[in-house]
Amino acid sequence: MRKLAFVLLAVVLLTACGTPENQVNLTELKSQMDNAATEAQKALLGHVSSAIEKGGTEYAVEFCNLKALAITDSLSEQYGYSISRITDRNRNPENGLETETEKLIFEQFKENNELTDSLFIVNNQMHYYKRINAGMQACIKCHGNPETDIEPATLAKIKTLYPDDRAIGYALNDFRGLWKIIKEQNND
Ligand code: HEC
Repeated sequence: MRKLAFVLLAVVLLTACGTPENQVNLTELKSQMDNAATEAQKALLGHVSSAIEKGGTEYAVEFCNLKALAITDSLSEQYGYSISRITDRNRNPENGLETETEKLIFEQFKENNELTDSLFIVNNQMHYYKRINAGMQACIKCHGNPETDIEPATLAKIKTLYPDDRAIGYALNDFRGLWKIIKEQNND
Protein backbone atom coordinates (compact mmCIF):
# COMPACT_ATOMS: atom_id res chain seq x y z
CA MET A 1 0.00 0.00 0.00
CA ARG A 2 2.74 2.39 0.93
CA LYS A 3 4.48 1.83 -2.38
CA LEU A 4 1.31 2.53 -4.31
CA ALA A 5 0.65 5.67 -2.28
CA PHE A 6 4.15 6.77 -3.19
CA VAL A 7 3.58 6.13 -6.87
CA LEU A 8 0.28 8.00 -6.75
CA LEU A 9 1.95 10.87 -4.93
CA ALA A 10 4.65 10.94 -7.60
CA VAL A 11 2.00 11.41 -10.28
CA VAL A 12 0.26 14.13 -8.28
CA LEU A 13 3.55 15.93 -7.65
CA LEU A 14 4.51 15.76 -11.26
CA THR A 15 1.20 17.29 -12.20
CA ALA A 16 1.38 19.94 -9.50
CA CYS A 17 4.98 21.01 -10.08
CA GLY A 18 4.95 20.82 -13.84
CA THR A 19 4.81 23.87 -16.01
CA PRO A 20 1.43 24.45 -17.64
CA GLU A 21 2.75 22.82 -20.82
CA ASN A 22 3.82 19.75 -18.88
CA GLN A 23 0.40 19.45 -17.33
CA VAL A 24 -1.25 19.60 -20.69
CA ASN A 25 1.23 17.03 -21.99
CA LEU A 26 0.37 14.63 -19.20
CA THR A 27 -3.33 14.91 -19.94
CA GLU A 28 -2.62 14.55 -23.61
CA LEU A 29 -0.35 11.58 -23.06
CA LYS A 30 -3.03 9.84 -21.02
CA SER A 31 -5.59 10.36 -23.73
CA GLN A 32 -3.18 9.10 -26.41
CA MET A 33 -2.45 6.00 -24.35
CA ASP A 34 -6.17 5.51 -23.77
CA ASN A 35 -6.65 5.72 -27.50
CA ALA A 36 -3.93 3.11 -28.10
CA ALA A 37 -5.62 0.75 -25.60
CA THR A 38 -9.00 1.26 -27.26
CA GLU A 39 -7.58 0.58 -30.71
CA ALA A 40 -5.72 -2.50 -29.47
CA GLN A 41 -8.92 -3.82 -27.87
CA LYS A 42 -10.81 -3.22 -31.13
CA ALA A 43 -8.12 -4.96 -33.17
CA LEU A 44 -8.07 -8.06 -30.96
CA LEU A 45 -11.85 -8.21 -30.81
CA GLY A 46 -12.09 -7.87 -34.58
CA HIS A 47 -9.61 -10.68 -35.14
CA VAL A 48 -11.15 -13.04 -32.61
CA SER A 49 -14.67 -12.40 -33.95
CA SER A 50 -13.66 -13.21 -37.50
CA ALA A 51 -11.75 -16.30 -36.32
CA ILE A 52 -14.91 -17.51 -34.50
CA GLU A 53 -16.96 -16.85 -37.61
CA LYS A 54 -14.47 -18.73 -39.74
CA GLY A 55 -13.91 -21.83 -37.62
CA GLY A 56 -15.81 -21.63 -34.31
CA THR A 57 -14.40 -21.01 -30.82
CA GLU A 58 -12.05 -24.01 -30.87
CA TYR A 59 -10.32 -22.66 -33.97
CA ALA A 60 -10.35 -19.14 -32.51
CA VAL A 61 -8.44 -20.38 -29.43
CA GLU A 62 -5.74 -21.66 -31.74
CA PHE A 63 -5.80 -18.35 -33.60
CA CYS A 64 -5.36 -16.38 -30.35
CA ASN A 65 -2.55 -18.71 -29.33
CA LEU A 66 -0.68 -17.99 -32.54
CA LYS A 67 -1.58 -14.36 -33.08
CA ALA A 68 -2.61 -12.44 -29.93
CA LEU A 69 0.92 -11.45 -28.92
CA ALA A 70 1.91 -10.77 -32.52
CA ILE A 71 -1.06 -8.43 -32.89
CA THR A 72 -0.22 -6.46 -29.71
CA ASP A 73 3.46 -6.38 -30.73
CA SER A 74 2.67 -4.91 -34.11
CA LEU A 75 0.38 -2.33 -32.49
CA SER A 76 3.25 -1.47 -30.14
CA GLU A 77 5.39 -0.70 -33.14
CA GLN A 78 2.65 1.31 -34.79
CA TYR A 79 1.99 3.47 -31.70
CA GLY A 80 5.54 3.65 -30.37
CA TYR A 81 4.40 2.35 -26.95
CA SER A 82 4.90 -1.04 -25.40
CA ILE A 83 1.38 -2.52 -25.42
CA SER A 84 0.43 -5.70 -23.56
CA ARG A 85 -2.26 -7.29 -21.41
CA ILE A 86 -1.69 -8.41 -17.83
CA THR A 87 -3.80 -10.23 -15.26
CA ASP A 88 -3.63 -12.17 -11.99
CA ARG A 89 -5.18 -15.32 -13.51
CA ASN A 90 -3.41 -15.54 -16.82
CA ARG A 91 -3.78 -17.93 -19.72
CA ASN A 92 -0.57 -17.09 -21.54
CA PRO A 93 2.35 -17.29 -19.08
CA GLU A 94 3.67 -14.06 -20.65
CA ASN A 95 0.68 -12.09 -19.34
CA GLY A 96 1.18 -12.39 -15.58
CA LEU A 97 1.77 -9.58 -13.06
CA GLU A 98 5.48 -8.88 -13.03
CA THR A 99 6.36 -6.79 -10.01
CA GLU A 100 5.08 -5.99 -6.53
CA THR A 101 4.12 -2.52 -7.75
CA GLU A 102 2.11 -4.05 -10.57
CA LYS A 103 0.35 -6.36 -8.11
CA LEU A 104 -0.58 -3.34 -5.97
CA ILE A 105 -1.88 -1.46 -8.98
CA PHE A 106 -3.88 -4.51 -10.06
CA GLU A 107 -5.43 -4.76 -6.57
CA GLN A 108 -6.63 -1.17 -6.85
CA PHE A 109 -8.54 -1.99 -10.02
CA LYS A 110 -9.88 -5.20 -8.50
CA GLU A 111 -11.19 -3.44 -5.40
CA ASN A 112 -12.68 -0.47 -7.19
CA ASN A 113 -15.02 -1.20 -10.10
CA GLU A 114 -15.28 2.50 -10.86
CA LEU A 115 -11.58 2.77 -11.61
CA THR A 116 -11.36 2.63 -15.40
CA ASP A 117 -7.80 3.69 -16.09
CA SER A 118 -4.81 5.36 -14.49
CA LEU A 119 -1.41 6.77 -15.31
CA PHE A 120 1.55 5.96 -13.05
CA ILE A 121 5.23 6.72 -13.01
CA VAL A 122 7.10 3.48 -12.51
CA ASN A 123 10.91 3.49 -12.67
CA ASN A 124 10.85 6.84 -14.42
CA GLN A 125 8.57 5.57 -17.16
CA MET A 126 4.96 6.44 -17.80
CA HIS A 127 2.78 3.38 -17.27
CA TYR A 128 -0.85 3.57 -18.30
CA TYR A 129 -3.26 0.84 -17.17
CA LYS A 130 -6.81 0.36 -18.40
CA ARG A 131 -9.43 -2.04 -17.13
CA ILE A 132 -10.55 -5.00 -19.26
CA ASN A 133 -13.86 -6.54 -18.20
CA ALA A 134 -15.34 -9.75 -19.59
CA GLY A 135 -18.01 -7.49 -20.98
CA MET A 136 -19.37 -9.63 -23.81
CA GLN A 137 -21.00 -13.04 -23.95
CA ALA A 138 -18.21 -14.09 -26.34
CA CYS A 139 -15.59 -13.69 -23.59
CA ILE A 140 -17.38 -16.27 -21.47
CA LYS A 141 -17.18 -18.88 -24.23
CA CYS A 142 -13.43 -19.02 -23.65
CA HIS A 143 -13.06 -17.64 -20.09
CA GLY A 144 -16.30 -18.68 -18.36
CA ASN A 145 -17.42 -21.69 -16.35
CA PRO A 146 -15.69 -24.76 -17.83
CA GLU A 147 -18.75 -26.92 -17.21
CA THR A 148 -21.51 -24.67 -18.51
CA ASP A 149 -20.04 -21.92 -20.69
CA ILE A 150 -17.08 -23.40 -22.56
CA GLU A 151 -17.69 -26.08 -25.19
CA PRO A 152 -15.82 -29.32 -24.44
CA ALA A 153 -13.75 -29.19 -27.67
CA THR A 154 -12.80 -25.58 -26.94
CA LEU A 155 -11.85 -26.44 -23.37
CA ALA A 156 -9.73 -29.36 -24.58
CA LYS A 157 -7.92 -27.07 -27.02
CA ILE A 158 -7.29 -24.52 -24.28
CA LYS A 159 -5.85 -27.21 -22.00
CA THR A 160 -3.59 -28.51 -24.76
CA LEU A 161 -2.22 -25.11 -25.71
CA TYR A 162 -2.10 -23.71 -22.17
CA PRO A 163 -1.46 -26.52 -19.65
CA ASP A 164 -1.20 -23.95 -16.82
CA ASP A 165 -4.29 -21.96 -17.83
CA ARG A 166 -5.84 -19.97 -14.98
CA ALA A 167 -8.14 -17.80 -17.11
CA ILE A 168 -11.44 -19.65 -16.65
CA GLY A 169 -14.30 -19.24 -14.20
CA TYR A 170 -15.18 -15.64 -15.08
CA ALA A 171 -18.78 -14.42 -15.22
CA LEU A 172 -20.11 -11.81 -17.61
CA ASN A 173 -18.74 -8.33 -16.75
CA ASP A 174 -16.15 -9.64 -14.29
CA PHE A 175 -12.85 -7.80 -14.06
CA ARG A 176 -10.55 -9.79 -16.32
CA GLY A 177 -7.30 -7.85 -16.63
CA LEU A 178 -5.59 -4.64 -17.67
CA TRP A 179 -4.15 -3.10 -20.77
CA LYS A 180 -0.61 -2.03 -19.94
CA ILE A 181 0.82 0.73 -22.09
CA ILE A 182 4.34 1.97 -21.44
CA LYS A 183 5.99 4.98 -22.93
CA GLU A 184 9.68 4.27 -23.24
CA GLN A 185 11.85 7.19 -22.16
CA ASN A 186 13.68 7.52 -25.44
CA ASN A 187 10.68 7.57 -27.67
CA ASP A 188 9.77 11.26 -27.89
C1 HEC B 1 -11.94 -17.89 -28.84
C2 HEC B 1 -11.62 -17.88 -27.46
C3 HEC B 1 -11.49 -16.55 -26.76
C4 HEC B 1 -12.42 -15.55 -26.68
C5 HEC B 1 -13.77 -15.47 -27.37
C6 HEC B 1 -11.85 -14.55 -25.80
N1 HEC B 1 -10.61 -14.93 -25.37
FE1 HEC B 1 -9.38 -13.93 -24.12
N2 HEC B 1 -7.90 -15.25 -24.48
C7 HEC B 1 -8.02 -16.38 -25.25
C8 HEC B 1 -6.71 -16.98 -25.41
C9 HEC B 1 -6.39 -18.25 -26.18
C10 HEC B 1 -5.80 -16.15 -24.72
C11 HEC B 1 -4.30 -16.29 -24.63
C12 HEC B 1 -3.68 -15.51 -25.80
C13 HEC B 1 -2.19 -15.59 -25.90
O1 HEC B 1 -1.64 -16.70 -25.98
O2 HEC B 1 -1.55 -14.52 -25.91
C14 HEC B 1 -6.60 -15.07 -24.16
C15 HEC B 1 -6.05 -14.05 -23.38
C16 HEC B 1 -6.78 -13.02 -22.83
C17 HEC B 1 -6.24 -11.98 -21.99
C18 HEC B 1 -4.77 -11.79 -21.62
C19 HEC B 1 -4.44 -12.36 -20.28
C20 HEC B 1 -4.24 -13.85 -20.27
O3 HEC B 1 -5.03 -14.50 -19.55
O4 HEC B 1 -3.33 -14.36 -20.95
C21 HEC B 1 -7.28 -11.17 -21.64
C22 HEC B 1 -7.21 -9.95 -20.75
C23 HEC B 1 -8.46 -11.70 -22.29
N3 HEC B 1 -8.13 -12.82 -22.99
C24 HEC B 1 -9.71 -11.11 -22.19
C25 HEC B 1 -10.78 -11.47 -23.01
C26 HEC B 1 -12.02 -10.72 -23.12
C27 HEC B 1 -12.34 -9.47 -22.33
C28 HEC B 1 -12.79 -11.34 -24.05
C29 HEC B 1 -14.13 -10.90 -24.60
C30 HEC B 1 -14.15 -9.59 -25.24
C31 HEC B 1 -12.04 -12.50 -24.52
N4 HEC B 1 -10.83 -12.55 -23.86
C32 HEC B 1 -12.49 -13.39 -25.45
C33 HEC B 1 -9.18 -16.87 -25.79
C34 HEC B 1 -10.34 -16.15 -25.94
